[in-house]
Amino acid sequence: MIQIAPSMLSADFLHLEKDVEMVNEHADLFHLDIMDGVFVPNLSYGFPVVEAIAKKASKPLDTHLMIIEPEKYVERFVKAGSAMVSFHLNATKDPDAVLAQIRDCGAKAGLVINPDLPLESLFPHLKNCDFVMLMSVFAGFGGQKFIEETYDRVRVLKEEIVRQGLNIPIEVDGGVSASNAKALTEAGAEILVAGSAVFKAEDPAAVIAAMRG
Ligand code: DX5
Ligand code: ZN
Repeated sequence: MIQIAPSMLSADFLHLEKDVEMVNEHADLFHLDIMDGVFVPNLSYGFPVVEAIAKKASKPLDTHLMIIEPEKYVERFVKAGSAMVSFHLNATKDPDAVLAQIRDCGAKAGLVINPDLPLESLFPHLKNCDFVMLMSVFAGFGGQKFIEETYDRVRVLKEEIVRQGLNIPIEVDGGVSASNAKALTEAGAEILVAGSAVFKAEDPAAVIAAMRG
């Protein structure tokens, strides 16, 4: 079953409640992008926004940490309402410890890599993940162009997950739209993040339906 996770980075912050209701009604997860201006060259939003969304959300919050030393903030993001928390492999010294920390807080733990990191760098950690995310753009900004090599990366990662006897979903983030959703799910992705494709559309619900195929 494919899950669609609209990225709230592209939502209308003056009418956030309307966009939260749209996700509740038509999508599966809220994707929340947390940026620190250090790990990525951009800032986004923090706890007050996550808590506000959590109050109205009837779908789980999928929080994507693009911050250094995620271990410092994991607990607060879970307390703020995150059911899933992911962080970048190269943002911390001990990824396995952070995965364990997220699970200990009661959330699902995910590891993320940017398009320029070798897939193999994820392999030793997969057994400690509840999900794994491949960036299909370089983390930091919404509205970037999808990197085509992602299809092959999803395929190879899926093979490795199966080879290790694991059953964890692959999430893909960046430049995802109705035009590449089918190829991504055929390659093995199960969770698709989409920011601009959903929120810049005239009819976000129709885009989500089209992404489900
Ligand atoms: C990029 C973020 C993405 C972004 C996706 O750093 O992690 O989640 O909001 O936005 P689109 O779908 O517009 O690429
Ligand atoms: Zn993201």
